[in-house]
Amino acid sequence: MLTEPATPVKDAYVLGHSEKEIERLQKQNNFLQVFTWHCFQEAGIKPGMKVLEAGCGGGDVALILAEMVGPEGQVVGVDLNPQALEAARQKVAAAGHNNIIFKQGDLQDIVLDTDFDAVVGRLVLFHLKEPANILRHLLDCLKPGGLVAFQDYNLLAARAYPIVPLFEQTLGRIIKAFRQAGADPEIGLKLNEIFRQAGLPGPTMRCEASVSAGPEWDGYEQLALVTRTLLPFMQKVGLATAEEVEVDTLADRLRAELIEKGGVGHGPDVISAWSHKPA
Ligand SMILES: C[S@@+](CC[C@H](N)C(=O)[O-])C[C@H]1O[C@@H](n2cnc3c(N)ncnc32)[C@H](O)[C@@H]1O
Repeated sequence: MLTEPATPVKDAYVLGHSEKEIERLQKQNNFLQVFTWHCFQEAGIKPGMKVLEAGCGGGDVALILAEMVGPEGQVVGVDLNPQALEAARQKVAAAGHNNIIFKQGDLQDIVLDTDFDAVVGRLVLFHLKEPANILRHLLDCLKPGGLVAFQDYNLLAARAYPIVPLFEQTLGRIIKAFRQAGADPEIGLKLNEIFRQAGLPGPTMRCEASVSAGPEWDGYEQLALVTRTLLPFMQKVGLATAEEVEVDTLADRLRAELIEKGGVGHGPDVISAWSHKPA
């Protein structure tokens, strides 16, 4: 049974931080990391920089930044969630980087140093109720002329070609669940607006996406893993039941459906935007 609740539920961070969700973020990073490298490289992350990462989650972006800024640079990752930060600290220790530190706090009121060369974030504005206000607050941490670079999804760009029912249904449920939770599935397209509202010059923007005709495409597993994470919320708000979703077999059924049609899977658009704090 699919019913739309009347009002969005806007309380907690809808994806949570179970061990499985932290694993999902890592798998998501496997296909996103190349896009994130492109964004940071073109935006101008350089050796020696001191970079603030907003909403660092399990630390995958911080690891990319640590490589880019090198031993002379420093990365500070901030997240609300202590379990995510613990996973991030373990990952960084295993990778042997000593130029990353993590701090727990809420981006809307955290007080940090004011000498950062750059503030960046991936898939974090998506979840914020007032992204422009939070971005304006984060600008206080930046030196004049400092770099601001954010990357986020347009989930509405994800699709299968040709259109196939299970893919449509699965993506549709995910988009509805995010909307009901107060997250914005089209946030990537709004980065220009958000940057300007925060007082920044209009950003340079880029877009990339994961596209594949093969059975190995990571999109099938990602759709299933996001559904798994969102399932308790979907059940709570009446979007779907566990029996309707059959999450354990979902990735295989999505793959079989599209491969049988000789189709192509297109992931969400990953939209990058960067600009500089006025000097
Ligand atoms: C989808 S995850 C992305 C994690 C990481 N940036 C990545 O790309 O792998 C979003 C992260 O933002 C964090 N977050 C959401 N709202 C926050 C807030 N108000 N303050 C700090 N962190 C927040 C969540 O705890 C979560 O770890």
